[in-house]
Amino acid sequence: MLTAAQQQLIESKHHTLHHRRGQALLDHPLYTKGTAFTEDERARYGLTGLLPPQIETLEQQAARAYGAFRTRASDLDKHIFLRALQDTNEVLFYRLLLDHVEEMMPIVYTPTVAQACEQFSHIYRRPRGLFVSYPLRDRIHEILANRHGRDIDVIVVTDGGRILGIGDQGVGGLGIPIGKLSLYTLIGGIHPNRTLPIVLDVGTNNVERLRDPLYLGWRHERLSGQAYFDFIDQFIAAVKAELPGACLQWEDFPNTVAHTLLDRYRDDLLSFNDDIQGTASVALGAILGAVSVSGKPLRDQTVVMFGAGAAGIGVADYLCRAMVQDGLSEREARARFFIVNRGGVLHADRTDLNAEQRAFAQDPARIASFPRCDAGVVGLQEVISSVPATILIGLSTVGGAFTEPIVREMARKTPRPIIFPLSNPTSKAEATPADLLRWTQGRALVATGSPFAPVVDGGRTVVIAQCNNVYIFPAIGLALAACKATRVTDGMLLAAARALGEKSPALSDRNAPLLPPLRDLRQVARHIALAVSRQAQVDGVAPPITEHDLVERIAVSQWDPCYE
Ligand code: NAI
Repeated sequence: MLTAAQQQLIESKHHTLHHRRGQALLDHPLYTKGTAFTEDERARYGLTGLLPPQIETLEQQAARAYGAFRTRASDLDKHIFLRALQDTNEVLFYRLLLDHVEEMMPIVYTPTVAQACEQFSHIYRRPRGLFVSYPLRDRIHEILANRHGRDIDVIVVTDGGRILGIGDQGVGGLGIPIGKLSLYTLIGGIHPNRTLPIVLDVGTNNVERLRDPLYLGWRHERLSGQAYFDFIDQFIAAVKAELPGACLQWEDFPNTVAHTLLDRYRDDLLSFNDDIQGTASVALGAILGAVSVSGKPLRDQTVVMFGAGAAGIGVADYLCRAMVQDGLSEREARARFFIVNRGGVLHADRTDLNAEQRAFAQDPARIASFPRCDAGVVGLQEVISSVPATILIGLSTVGGAFTEPIVREMARKTPRPIIFPLSNPTSKAEATPADLLRWTQGRALVATGSPFAPVVDGGRTVVIAQCNNVYIFPAIGLALAACKATRVTDGMLLAAARALGEKSPALSDRNAPLLPPLRDLRQVARHIALAVSRQAQVDGVAPPITEHDLVERIAVSQWDPCYE
């Protein structure tokens, strides 16, 4: 059974094929087949003589494209090559990506996309997505109406304010929504024509960009305060009017506004923030996988979190909710967390905590007997020496913070210590997987934030999982497209994490990573999408349909890059 969306797609495709001919058809990135047009199609669409005589398969085209890709020397050159291919022939672009997902994902997305954002105004070739520039704020409806595809499933929008680790990139931030949406398509199977990358061009405080004569954005200091929020209000009102069914994913907004925007619109619009919710969900998924491997129920785990910033508190929040789902009261669950930041362990007598941190503040009586470090506070080492920690998560930006004595002390008290140094980039990781396995005699269950090479440990090779949001957001997109949810609830992201945890290869193979290999992600995305869709129904934000229909809808919603 095809969904209405699928049927529309097929119809629109036939419409296009019948209305586009000759060079115009060859130039259309979604409908061209290049040398794969058959004799019959060449005759029918006025292509005879416009193409070389050999008729090729998609596989042959992909082999040629891969050869060309390999001639590009730098990662940025490879990125430019792939983006050009995307703008020329989308089916071929996605086929190539699928065939070489491990090699190419870091090129189309992190880390190379960061350079592409920095260089955006210099490597700009062809338009893609929408530029909603502040000076045009009274014409947002018109801008949205000018979009490429008519029916949109997923919008990824950024204001370019906090791009990966490289800060404010102004209009160049559009590279991130473009890269991210290609992963929605590659893994989630969202049809390319139903995705929409948007940059809100609100100026930039990046002096280098402002001084660059080639800079393509609005040359103005970054908008702030009420004017900024009014602009976002205007944009959201236009999205609701123009694209009422689309999911809007907030991307790389500055920390100062990200939570505010999520909270302001989450009950008003189908939306989520991947930096906040996706990060917490993938980390929880990996933790749940590790918890299953450890054999000790989640509700009996003791968590030490090093870092109480946006990322740390986000992960703690989801982990705490999962413990509540597993039967603890909220109070009992929170008591299982010892969260440490620059001021030491969070406790209720501290006056420097924000509301989110305060929710995880320990009872001062409970830590009264803990030793203090030289600075007079209860730091990470003191917490580890005082509690039977079973899970240690690092989101602190402090490279090497998980020292040998800390790790050995933790491992002395638990058979399978779960240790996740999640800070990025690699230099900021709280420990390396090789050290963690050495200091724990191979017993540690490890996942990282940055990629690490496999570790050889006593004759076995252990592959290290990287907590990459790509495990979650494409699956959320697929679920929304299939189940027609009207909101993204935290329950849905928790369901995604649990479904991801169930797919942990480490459950059946002690040398395997905690998270599945990238090549399996399309299949894992279907598994997650089913769990998310079920939860959407439970949460009352999606219409009820049978499990059988849901499975079928997910399968047909996942677009495959092949010529029809
Ligand atoms: P943040 O700057 O908001 O938070 C850092 C936290 O670490 C603060 O609570 C701070 O007090 C604490 N901290 C810093 N130095 C410390 C010290 N010497 N002793 C004790 N505590 C200290 O940063 P945010 O946004 O929470 O990110 C933290 C890290 O997590 C970053 O490296 C980021 O790249 C990484 N991250 C990783 C993700 C992943 O999926 N792997 C996703 C999101 C963030």
